[in-house]
Amino acid sequence: MSRAPTVSAASSAATPKAVPLFELATQWQLIRNDVEAAVKEVLDSQHYTSGATSGPFVGRFEENMGKLLGAEVVALSSGTDAILAALMALNIGRDAADRRHEVITTPFTFFATAGCIVRAGARPVFVDIDPATFLMNIKAAAAAVTKQTRAIIPVHLYGQMLDTEALAKIAATQGLDVIEDAAQSIGARDIHGKQIGENARCACLSFYPTKNLGAAGDAGALVTRDQALATRFKQTRQHGETSRYHHEFVGGNFRMDALQAAVLNVKLKWLGQWNERRRAIAAYYTSRLAGSPVTPPVELAGGYHVYHQYVIRVPDGKRDALRDHLGRQGVGCNIYYPKSLHVQACFADLGYRQGQFPHAEKACEEVLALPIFPELTPSQIERVADAVLKFF
Ligand SMILES: Cc1ncc(COP(=O)(O)O)c(C=O)c1O
Repeated sequence: MSRAPTVSAASSAATPKAVPLFELATQWQLIRNDVEAAVKEVLDSQHYTSGATSGPFVGRFEENMGKLLGAEVVALSSGTDAILAALMALNIGRDAADRRHEVITTPFTFFATAGCIVRAGARPVFVDIDPATFLMNIKAAAAAVTKQTRAIIPVHLYGQMLDTEALAKIAATQGLDVIEDAAQSIGARDIHGKQIGENARCACLSFYPTKNLGAAGDAGALVTRDQALATRFKQTRQHGETSRYHHEFVGGNFRMDALQAAVLNVKLKWLGQWNERRRAIAAYYTSRLAGSPVTPPVELAGGYHVYHQYVIRVPDGKRDALRDHLGRQGVGCNIYYPKSLHVQACFADLGYRQGQFPHAEKACEEVLALPIFPELTPSQIERVADAVLKFF
């Protein structure tokens, strides 16, 4: 996940960066009047939250977002809660004999993807990534299916979707649910032009402030094309309530605040042009870095990558030196992710070992994210590319 707005390990100095990895101050000037008016409307109304039924502000956001995605949208408290709520709503955790269900996913993702599988009571089964795109290897996922498998959680990492049709075929033949972790890919399309959630039971969104569509705090959503499932998601966010104080199943408090919905409603109008700008910045970097020792991101032909992150590969063990160099040049950068999930201490009981997923492990050693957000100026992006090239 791309949490730390301006942090690069090499640059903890208090001096502001010439080119921060991320900042929101410029965008704030653009949307300030509208956001302030929207927040005031919520405060004046005193309608602060949603439940199994959405209040006016959350309902409005769900409707607008739903139109954009051609789907039902259920607004939630965070992207993490969206993954957990999806698993709970679909009864994924343990079977009737109390054995853990298995959920196949990638080890090269933000922690929440696998953390939620464990929290739901199930067992994460990791498969390696495609080294070109960093996305889950679909063939490896197919090969990992067992009798205990209930679901697959692909992660549309950095803003790029994997081939959802290929995955859907495997899921359909094996009777599995696909829950897309689309936290980083709002507005993206896969190589078949499919949107998030179109070839899956549901997709999980995060509106963490650094995301392409960011709230003023934590927020998330579930996206589905199944009306009955959307109703169940709404119940799940309100402790499994079917009518007031009557609980058919166990859910949680996964509600989105009305204030977040109001902010998101304002920002939603900008999402299309913001994603376009990210793509233009990415295209610039890629053309400047062509022929250099670093590998720019590989875009799958026919897809629509929304560049939540612009992540290069730095070969020959030089990644950390490049990171330090960029820090000295006043250019923000960060590593998403430095440690694969299969070797995280908290998952030791799963029995994985170093060396088991070589592509994920190599990615952890080679990836470096460069600044990418819509408000970057032409001179800033030029400076980023110059700084990278100067290192070699
Ligand atoms: C891939 C991925 N999954 C899940 C999450 C969890 O979202 P949140 O931070 O909103 O809980 C994030 C990010 O922040 C993410 O990047």
